Amino acid sequence: MDYKEIYKQIGFKQEIERLKKQAYFGHEKEIRMLKLLGFEDRGSVLEIGSGPGFYTSILLDNFKEIEVTALDYDMEFLKYANENMNNKHRNRVTYVKDDVNRLSLPNNRYDFVIARFVFQHLENPLKAISEIYRVLKPGGKVFIIDIDSDLWGTTFPKNRTINEINNIISKLQGNLKGNREIGSMLTTILKRSKFKSLDIEAVINHSDILGKENFRVKINSNIIEDPKIKKLINNYNDFFDLKDSSIMMLKLFISGEK
Ligand SMILES: C[S@@+](CC[C@H](N)C(=O)[O-])C[C@H]1O[C@@H](n2cnc3c(N)ncnc32)[C@H](O)[C@@H]1O
Repeated sequence: MDYKEIYKQIGFKQEIERLKKQAYFGHEKEIRMLKLLGFEDRGSVLEIGSGPGFYTSILLDNFKEIEVTALDYDMEFLKYANENMNNKHRNRVTYVKDDVNRLSLPNNRYDFVIARFVFQHLENPLKAISEIYRVLKPGGKVFIIDIDSDLWGTTFPKNRTINEINNIISKLQGNLKGNREIGSMLTTILKRSKFKSLDIEAVINHSDILGKENFRVKINSNIIEDPKIKKLINNYNDFFDLKDSSIMMLKLFISGEK
């Protein structure tokens, strides 16, 4: 099942809004981390799974000298990105419809490759990494930003409901052939694919800094009939309503050099 199936279920407009929020959520820290790991303001960047282009804009805003190839296998996302891209960025971005598992791009072409929240959706991450290796220039660097469900959603005070909901989402994604446990595998996959100078870091989104309501998934328990799920959602909302509760989430940054 491909990514499209996910937004077919929640609607295209809603998915665009979700991705916009997700792209800008703590993005300043992400840029800081990319620089720390060696992402430089120069040369050609291939952004894999660029979707509706919000992260492309963030990259172009923060790195004034780069040129970005925004690649996605979904034409509707690419069309949206092209139509909504800020005019000041237009001459620094090219759109390519392609599948990361079989890129039509030439060997040794890019200085940097970045893939944010894409690997968790891939059935064959090893194949994708070997394609990324092929299109990078010797000395070029890859940056993968993704999650691992075991590190996603630590709370104060400790709360089992958040973990439980997290596990349910993880299983659902597993059924869609994705993998929310991808984070713990990524260094090994890079190592197997001959990448060197591996590194891994984390950026933390914390509700005391970004606002607790921005972390809450809005679910109205009144429309749920199953008493078990209703209770789960009520516990979830109770946690968010506590005066001093907080939640933090880790985004993993994995880098390697060809
Ligand atoms: C969660 S979105 C992330 C969008 C963007 N990277 C961001 O961080 O805002 C995942 C994107 O990966 C794309 N994608 C998934 N599988 C892909 C594949 N095999 N080849 C190319 N793009 C893919 C989807 O179409 C979608 O746009």
